Amino acid sequence: MEGNSKTLGEFIIENQKEFKYSSGELSRLFNSIKLAAKIVSHKVNKAGLVDIIGGAGEKNIQGEDQQKLDVYANEVFIKTIINRQIVCGITSEENDDFITVQGGDNGNNNKYILLMDPLDGSSNIDVNVSVGTIFSVYRRISEVGTPVILEDFLQPGINQVAAGYIIYGTSTMLVYTTGHGVNGFTLNPAIGTFYLSHPKIKFPEDGNIYSVNEGNYVHFPQGIKNYIKFCQQEEGDRPYSSRYIGSLVSDMHRNMLKGGIYMYPSTKSTNGKLRLLYECNPMAFITEQAGGKASDGVSRIMEIEPTSLHERVPFYSGSINMVEKVENFISEAK
Ligand code: AHG
Ligand code: MN
Ligand code: MN
Ligand code: MN
Repeated sequence: MEGNSKTLGEFIIENQKEFKYSSGELSRLFNSIKLAAKIVSHKVNKAGLVDIIGGAGEKNIQGEDQQKLDVYANEVFIKTIINRQIVCGITSEENDDFITVQGGDNGNNNKYILLMDPLDGSSNIDVNVSVGTIFSVYRRISEVGTPVILEDFLQPGINQVAAGYIIYGTSTMLVYTTGHGVNGFTLNPAIGTFYLSHPKIKFPEDGNIYSVNEGNYVHFPQGIKNYIKFCQQEEGDRPYSSRYIGSLVSDMHRNMLKGGIYMYPSTKSTNGKLRLLYECNPMAFITEQAGGKASDGVSRIMEIEPTSLHERVPFYSGSINMVEKVENFISEAK
């Protein structure tokens, strides 16, 4: 099958016109993301044999215990991209502050910034369950040739020029959008090449899977409690199936292919858990480009104006009819 399929490299060259601004720069950025993904994939596949399982002994700015693989993936992506002088700034779930990319002949002349969750689903590493990487690309708003500023990173999701994820699952896949639909590529690890395996991915308009950490049920807003009960009722195509891996990338990937909704609600004391910049915006862009919907329960995720690098928002993303149903339950419970 591979011989007849397009490689990711060929696909990017053929679709360069999709990159509205500077196609060369974005292609080079994708080449680096592809390379970093292969390095991390190789390491993930060896977890258990090499010393990469378990805690790194540090906490990140969000108060989470960093896993060794969180730290490793973060370093691989940052180094791979900095060494190639492609972007002018990077920010990551695992870093307190954004990184200004300096040096080279034209380090600060680059126009793009990268935001990422280098290792999503860390809690699954030790038990051999799928993890992922999420990334998002914006054009800087500050003047080219000067160091990046915080405002470059605090842009609403509608300004994204590209977003994607890598899933290190039964096979490794890279799924991305530049605002012209969503395409998925599967890695053939024997030859280190990604091939187009899932062209033009579309979210089914309806689904019968709901994904939420129901252990937190007592803390959820009343509208979400009511929606979960609705999912469990016996009527029409219900009850729906409950599927929750605890790895956003994997839960979203399954729901996008099969039809379903992912939910991480707010509670009385939290604004949910998922990070607007590193998780929600890129997943919302992919969801919308695949014909789905992504909301904080009331408003469109991609229209939220970020106020800080690590802010969290409630997240409801998936098949359009299911997300609209949740929004109705939330507004009715008010
Ligand atoms: P990360 O591993 O990048 O910190 O993200 C974990 C996130 C997300 O992947 C997952 O859906 C969610 O946390 C699971 O949280 P709970 O364990 O609270 O359900
Ligand atoms: Mn984390
Ligand atoms: Mn994550
Ligand atoms: Mn992470």
